[in-house]
Amino acid sequence: MLKSQPTAKIHSFQLPKKILFGVKSSENVGTEAKALGGKKAFLVTDKNLEKTGIPAKIEESLVSQGFEVNLFDAVEPEPVLEIAENVASTARRKKYDIIVGVGGGSVLDMAKVAAMSLTNPGPMRNYVGVDLVKNPSVPSILLPTTAGTGSEVTNVAVLTITEDELKTSIISPHMFCNVAIVDPSLTYNLPPRLTASTGLDALSHALEALISVNANPITDSLAIKAVKLIFANLPKAYESGDPESREGMCLGSLIAGMSFGNAGVCLGHAAAYTFAVSYKVSHGTSCGLVLPYVFRFCASSIPLKLPKIAESLEIETENLGLEETGLAISDAILGLMDKLQMPKRLRDLNIPRRDVPKLAEKLLTFSRLIKRTPNPLSYNDAVRLFETMW
Ligand SMILES: [Fe+2]
Repeated sequence: MLKSQPTAKIHSFQLPKKILFGVKSSENVGTEAKALGGKKAFLVTDKNLEKTGIPAKIEESLVSQGFEVNLFDAVEPEPVLEIAENVASTARRKKYDIIVGVGGGSVLDMAKVAAMSLTNPGPMRNYVGVDLVKNPSVPSILLPTTAGTGSEVTNVAVLTITEDELKTSIISPHMFCNVAIVDPSLTYNLPPRLTASTGLDALSHALEALISVNANPITDSLAIKAVKLIFANLPKAYESGDPESREGMCLGSLIAGMSFGNAGVCLGHAAAYTFAVSYKVSHGTSCGLVLPYVFRFCASSIPLKLPKIAESLEIETENLGLEETGLAISDAILGLMDKLQMPKRLRDLNIPRRDVPKLAEKLLTFSRLIKRTPNPLSYNDAVRLFETMW
């Protein structure tokens, strides 16, 4: 447990009402839905996942409890605003009682949008921002099939605005689902590349939650545990995908989600957003790439947490100063990325060095995320940061 210090701060911590965790827990989706009430279910997923037969099993469970189920499978990775408008208008055509989302973070985010759209009128673009959703959503159940985005336990739906090459979000307490069902067996067939990229996203959630100025003793404890689980399980999940490592990753991703859902992510996600859309880099790959450099930049701001993070990575810190400990953690992240064969530099993604000033300028525009970063960040700092990433 981290040492807690007396503080005048009031810590707020929010989660969905219920979380089920365990192999085969997804078989309970029908009974959980029935407990929430209603007859008409809207099942949000994507076409790729449909091929695995997972959505069909979820549908079966809902039907067995008397639900009429309609499927929406038009969610694409890194969904654009138009997909949010599409899922909303489709959901509104029938007045659904319950929304069920099964898939990766993009699908879960669109399921949250569907649930919110049934009780909040007008285009979804009106709700992009913080606390703009007025009315509670209809009940929803979210089942992640990656480990992952942690979207099942957060109050955020991330959207891509193509013309501005931007990522933005709908953030509201009304975006929490009612039941999150995390069944590790849904991730058993996740391909190695997706296992690696989504796993690094989860790691970035935990480490950025530790850095965030909104971190508190609850989010810190969860994030430290998540870091330990992810480092211990991600290489095995990537190499062999055995049930034990899959379960470790699902738990790591879930509790990283519980942590960053409250503390927030900060500089890492902001830095990733500067190039992810323009260079079509997946969310996990971009967040993973920037993480070692961002951690090094911010390490001095979390001196009390560094030894705890190092301990969870089994780094011997007895003879290390704080700066060296921060560096050792950053090196451990780079070592993990080697094992996962993930890109570690901007040049690996064919991003030209001449783009560095543009990326630095763009980084400073993500003010909500920058404000959560304890280190002051000037334009020159941002340029230096991207130079080290290049
Ligand atoms: Fe993320």
